[in-house]
Amino acid sequence: MPQDDRPFGKKSQGTRDVTSRDDSRAQILDPARARRFIERNTTLMAPPLVPEIRLRLASEAHDIWLKTEEELEALGLPPPFWAFAWAGGQALARFILDHREWVEKRRVVDFASGSGLVALAAALGGASEVTAVDIDRFASTAFALNRPLNPGAAATIAFCTEDIVGQEISADVLLVGDVFYDREMAAAITPWFEALAAKGVVVLVGDPGRSYLPRDRLSHLATYGVPGSRALEDQEIKRTRVWRWHAEP
Ligand SMILES: C[S@@+](CC[C@H](N)C(=O)[O-])C[C@H]1O[C@@H](n2cnc3c(N)ncnc32)[C@H](O)[C@@H]1O
Repeated sequence: MPQDDRPFGKKSQGTRDVTSRDDSRAQILDPARARRFIERNTTLMAPPLVPEIRLRLASEAHDIWLKTEEELEALGLPPPFWAFAWAGGQALARFILDHREWVEKRRVVDFASGSGLVALAAALGGASEVTAVDIDRFASTAFALNRPLNPGAAATIAFCTEDIVGQEISADVLLVGDVFYDREMAAAITPWFEALAAKGVVVLVGDPGRSYLPRDRLSHLATYGVPGSRALEDQEIKRTRVWRWHAEP
């Protein structure tokens, strides 16, 4: 990822024509348009570490790969996290597919789901119920496109676009792929994960060493080398770990 750990480069500094941005955002958030936008900007692919899952993802060949966060904002688009299988999500998906006992017959929430990769892995791994959660409405549309590409994932997967940070959840396991890149988000989710773990929810985190990962709360479960791209990350193979969150005694 770029210097400050935010994907898709820096945030906009200047003023913009808010009216035209809001118009284009409203238009593109129309589900049929969002669907066409995603289809135009992605290709059917299998994430390198999780070849059993198929997703619509962006590659260097697609326009959105090259756009900065600022350019995307000008188009009324939030950063397209849903268009990539992030290293943390790939490692966590690989881990639960290879160690199904963590999710088998359990109720699972995939927090910050993006493309839905981790939720699909949980369903393939035998979870009894899966809920994918992401506040980006594009992620919900991307997931609606990705779900039918993976018919082997038997469990029903619900998609929730509500911000559930801080709320109680009806789940046995919370899966979290690649979210510790942003200071504010980390400050909001850290006490929440802590509270959920204290209540007995198993919290598993996939992370390639992002800046705001609270390592003191975590115990190591597995390490993977995740093939990626220098255009998106700073290395071609990203050393990525899966951790279990431990509540303070
Ligand atoms: C780097 S992506 C990770 C996506 C996926 N877990 C993976 O590993 O491929 C981070 C995701 O967090 C989502 N996100 C940010 N704040 C959130 C919140 N409060 N609740 C749910 N999702 C959130 C973003 O929309 C984005 O899809």
